[in-house]
Amino acid sequence: MTKSYKIGVIKGDGIGPEIIDEAIKVLDAVSVAQGCNLKYTEMLLGGVAIDETGVPLPDETIQGVGKCDAVLFGAIGGPKWDNLERHLRPETGLLGLRKEMGTFANLRPATVYDELINASTLKPGVIEGVDIMVVRELTGGIYFGEPRELLEDRAYNTMVYTREEVERIARVAFDIAMIRQKRICSVDKANVLEVSQFWREIVEEVAKDYPEVELSHMYVDNAAMQLIRDPKQFDVILTGNIFGDILSDAASMLSGSIGLLPSASTGEGVGLFEPIHGSAPDIAGQGIANPLATISSASMMLRYALGETKSADKIDAAIKKALKEGYRTGDISDYDAKEVVTCSEMGDIIAGYASK
Ligand code: IPM
Ligand code: MN
Repeated sequence: MTKSYKIGVIKGDGIGPEIIDEAIKVLDAVSVAQGCNLKYTEMLLGGVAIDETGVPLPDETIQGVGKCDAVLFGAIGGPKWDNLERHLRPETGLLGLRKEMGTFANLRPATVYDELINASTLKPGVIEGVDIMVVRELTGGIYFGEPRELLEDRAYNTMVYTREEVERIARVAFDIAMIRQKRICSVDKANVLEVSQFWREIVEEVAKDYPEVELSHMYVDNAAMQLIRDPKQFDVILTGNIFGDILSDAASMLSGSIGLLPSASTGEGVGLFEPIHGSAPDIAGQGIANPLATISSASMMLRYALGETKSADKIDAAIKKALKEGYRTGDISDYDAKEVVTCSEMGDIIAGYASK
């Protein structure tokens, strides 16, 4: 029997529409080949939503995502909307959507494709075989803490974590560690912040339920350094919202380009799948964006939200094959390229391989 899924599609701003189109091209190719049927519903978020409805997160979008099996998201933001009041900014829409969907666990894998071993600014010996999973808490911490205010001569934000918030993200990280190398490094700033001291205590408590997992703790400044010095020491990195934001950007450069890394946000209900990069307004509309992070996010969606493991495997293998054959978008064109391709050509190539 043909399985049918409802996929919410949020293209967003900048390169969002281009990269999402390629992900859909690949999803269509693989789903036809694997005998499942994906139905897409487009929804507005970010700058494009502000332009069309006056707000970055329309009610229709909030209601729409609840009716989907999974949501695929591109990117939001751009200079056009940078000077709006905070509650009207595109980023506020994305944060609101994450909160509404209850996607508190953001999984950001940082792996290195052998084919791109020369693409990183780091030496091949340092990055060969890197396979890190950053588990970033996504709906709490300083991004959402109250009180917050911007005043004339002072401004403040608040970093808050509740026991429940730390416990549930820690459990996600431990469950993931159990199916990986069973090692977690929890990253905080417990030498300075009470909220981090609390985080550490709770992670220690959760660890008691996972005796097989080796837990270590690291201060975030040291972790930033260690990621560059010796990334292979990490298996799962468990961390809060803002530290995870920063560390995952740093980790992306192990792979050679921020245009390669996908993410999955899961939690209380429907999952949200998005590349870790932003909307790159400087290159939008030129057809040169790298769609691989979004195509990989679509693969994570098939794997984690829909259980379509075989289709996900096909996409992952197709990406490896395209890189092996020497197809490169502009961001990675300096590295063993046989042919430099556009965003859309890369989508065609992956779709072709994945449907075989
Ligand atoms: C990310 C982005 C977002 C974040 C922005 C756009 C709000 O940088 O997904 O990493 O900070 O979470
Ligand atoms: Mn970020």
